[in-house]
Amino acid sequence: MAVSRLSYLSIRALDLAASEKHYTEVIGLRVTGRSPGQVYLQAHEAQDHHCIILNASDRAGLDHVGFKVNDPNDLNEAEAGAKAWGLKTHRIAAGNIMGQGEGLGIELPSGHTFNLFYHSEKVGYSYGMKDPDIILENLNGVWPVTHLDHTLLAGNDCDKTAKFLQEVLDFNLTECIHGPDGSPFAFFLTVSNTIHNVAFAPGPPNSLHHIAFYVSDRADVIRRVDMLKHRKVATFDYGISRHGVAGVTTVYFHDPSGNRNEFQCGVYEASVVRNKIPPIVWAGENIPRGVFYYESAVLANFFEVVT
Ligand SMILES: [Fe+2]
Repeated sequence: MAVSRLSYLSIRALDLAASEKHYTEVIGLRVTGRSPGQVYLQAHEAQDHHCIILNASDRAGLDHVGFKVNDPNDLNEAEAGAKAWGLKTHRIAAGNIMGQGEGLGIELPSGHTFNLFYHSEKVGYSYGMKDPDIILENLNGVWPVTHLDHTLLAGNDCDKTAKFLQEVLDFNLTECIHGPDGSPFAFFLTVSNTIHNVAFAPGPPNSLHHIAFYVSDRADVIRRVDMLKHRKVATFDYGISRHGVAGVTTVYFHDPSGNRNEFQCGVYEASVVRNKIPPIVWAGENIPRGVFYYESAVLANFFEVVT
């Protein structure tokens, strides 16, 4: 069983046109497909068909998360593993999601649905696949992100969810936050050498805390605050800060539906060898430093506001 990477988030949009404008002009993605009520988007430097699917909806939040696997047979193995854990699964026919082969939906204890799939249509780099240049023309003040990096999901049974991802889907646990009573409650998991592809913290079932996009360097995070202000993007929780967890430089803001976004840079490299290195553990009393390292405090609405 081998999940190779976080591939995409399928999210809900209250105003599809406003969300498309946000994810193309503020985040700097390109449109790679459209169907009635849906817009598919991908970073300019990524190959798979999409990293964000916008779905017209009467509420904000998450539809599902997509992860790519290394072999078509991994779907059968994951299906058997999920059923052994008593989790509901369903098959998603090839082509049901644009540019994508057959998928396996798994309903996690946290309430979220992961869609595992093998085949993704390749859209090519915007810089070109033959004799590429290093400058993209006609961006008109848009600063592209490099890629979709991770998501923090809020839900119930995070402990059980993290265990399932480690034991059945071969995720590595890289960092873990303990509560005041010493029991673990927030989990940071990866399938690659980035510190987290997905994280889980307690909250209402099937909730989205944030979607993080990687930018080129730490100064770029700072520079993008100018752009957020210029484009009058909705409020962000703190200004520029740094997480103790993962060590990244970060800024948060919201898309037009209220879904929280993050620009971040500066992660350390995690081991790609499973269970080789024990997770970093944050004790309950150090949660504020782990979450916002500079401020050593967490705004009340940071964990409470989810979509
Ligand atoms: Fe994040």
